[in-house]
Amino acid sequence: MTKRVAVMGGTRFVGAAAVWELVGTGHEVLVAHRGVHELEPDVALDVAEHCLGDREDLLVEGGPVERFGPEVIIDTFGGGATAAKGEQLVDAAARCGAERLVVVSSCDVYQAYVDAGLGDGSGRKLLPPTPLPIFESSPRRIEPYPGATSGHDNVAMEDAVAEFSGTVVILRPGAIYGPGDYLCREWPLVRRALEKRKELKIPAAGVQIFHRVAVERVAHALVAAATARIPDVPHPWACNVVDPYDWTYAGLAAEIGRLLDWEWEPKEVSFDEAIHPWRVTSPLVVSDVRLREVLAIPSGRPDPRDALAATVRWYLEHGPNPESPYLDW
Ligand SMILES: NC(=O)c1ccc[n+]([C@@H]2O[C@H](COP(=O)([O-])OP(=O)(O)OC[C@H]3O[C@@H](n4cnc5c(N)ncnc54)[C@H](OP(=O)(O)O)[C@@H]3O)[C@@H](O)[C@H]2O)c1
Repeated sequence: MTKRVAVMGGTRFVGAAAVWELVGTGHEVLVAHRGVHELEPDVALDVAEHCLGDREDLLVEGGPVERFGPEVIIDTFGGGATAAKGEQLVDAAARCGAERLVVVSSCDVYQAYVDAGLGDGSGRKLLPPTPLPIFESSPRRIEPYPGATSGHDNVAMEDAVAEFSGTVVILRPGAIYGPGDYLCREWPLVRRALEKRKELKIPAAGVQIFHRVAVERVAHALVAAATARIPDVPHPWACNVVDPYDWTYAGLAAEIGRLLDWEWEPKEVSFDEAIHPWRVTSPLVVSDVRLREVLAIPSGRPDPRDALAATVRWYLEHGPNPESPYLDW
């Protein structure tokens, strides 16, 4: 079943992967963004419409999104999610007569993420109360995400989009990785291996888990969310988007070493002595049952081992994004 789908964003990392898959599966796609990041030329040929402007102008009454008449609107909330952006999206969707909203939120809505010390680390708890894995029904945080900039708050956005009267699918990805990633969390490990630095500081036995997800799996989820039969209750319907399995930090380092034919000399250090992008005081393991059973994304799409290999190959070919916050870690 193909649909008319308007994608807000869609030219950078997650959105670009989803647009590629949407056009490849025959959907009629409008891509709406500012024009700072562009579509790949071959994808640009296949989209039904492509319009440029700030989201205010794209979603305005009588504006390009409304004129397209989408059945589904996908919003990746480029530049950060806020309640105001969520409200604006709901108003536009109602005027368009859209039947469904699909929005990209994050696992950062869960209180367990704050308790594990993500964000600015201020919320660390030694006895985190949320049992693992984290389900969609696990408690969300009630305070803004610690350290968030420009008002970015996925909880506020989720509450705003819940006001839409049609179907609302909220996707909550874990830490996204893959070709085209601009954060580049895996880069510090790849860089050390390329620079032939044997010593690897492993804090607290390297048992940290901060559940990751391949960008390809997020794209599959976005495309499935546009058409899958979604339960009426609960409204809005949330779905975690994570890999079917993951490695601890030490395990990920070992896997990247294997891919680059590199032997580490691990040095055990205390938690405070080494920083890395998966540094959490308690593990964050997230359930993907809804992703597999309702959105029908099987475990092997893709296998994390293959997705990690593709990511490492991408680093070798392109290098990291020069604006990655982890460039010099
Ligand atoms: N990376 C992770 O580990 C992770 C984990 C969980 C959730 N997430 C969430 O995933 C979402 C998608 O991320 P992403 O990496 O694909 O994209 P992103 O960089 O957040 O968004 C970029 C897209 O939005 C467009 N855009 C940005 N500001 C805009 C504006 N004011 N008006 C209109 N369009 C605008 C960009 O195109 P132009 O620049 O051309 O406008 C581009 O197409 C984000 O909301 C992020 O919070 C990420």
